[in-house]
Amino acid sequence: MNRVLVLNGPNLRRLGTREPDVYGAATFDDLVALCRDAGRGLDLSVEVRQTDDEAEMLRWVHEAADERLPVVLNPAAFTHYSYALRDALAQRTAPLVEVHISNPAAREEFRHNSVVAGVATGTIAGFGTMSYVLALQAVAELLAEESAAAGR
Ligand code: DQA
Repeated sequence: MNRVLVLNGPNLRRLGTREPDVYGAATFDDLVALCRDAGRGLDLSVEVRQTDDEAEMLRWVHEAADERLPVVLNPAAFTHYSYALRDALAQRTAPLVEVHISNPAAREEFRHNSVVAGVATGTIAGFGTMSYVLALQAVAELLAEESAAAGR
């Protein structure tokens, strides 16, 4: 079974109580269960992590690069300013899907730019926690395409 890391940046452990009008009522534990369930259906072993610490996030991204692990990443506020995270992600060795619960393009101006998007395989935003399920489906598709190409 392919392993996938689902990495979450600052403030995302507070889902459920954090601005529920923007991010919904689901808690972080609900998100973990949703991702694991989706993974089981897609034959992916999903590991969900969250940190408020940029250095820890960079270590996880380096680990993914070294171990060739696909990543579903909600960089949260790091999306908009962390060149260190972008540089780490540029070293990726497997698919990277950027996800957002809200639709940053429909929100404040400072959220319109993602410094991460240019090094991601693609971005899914605005579907609530369903964004993660769609991202895991995309990862499963990409891995299936890769192994079909390798078998050709
Ligand atoms: C977010 C959007 C970001 O702008 C914000 O800083 C977050 C969450 C989202 O999932 O909608 O923390 O990444």
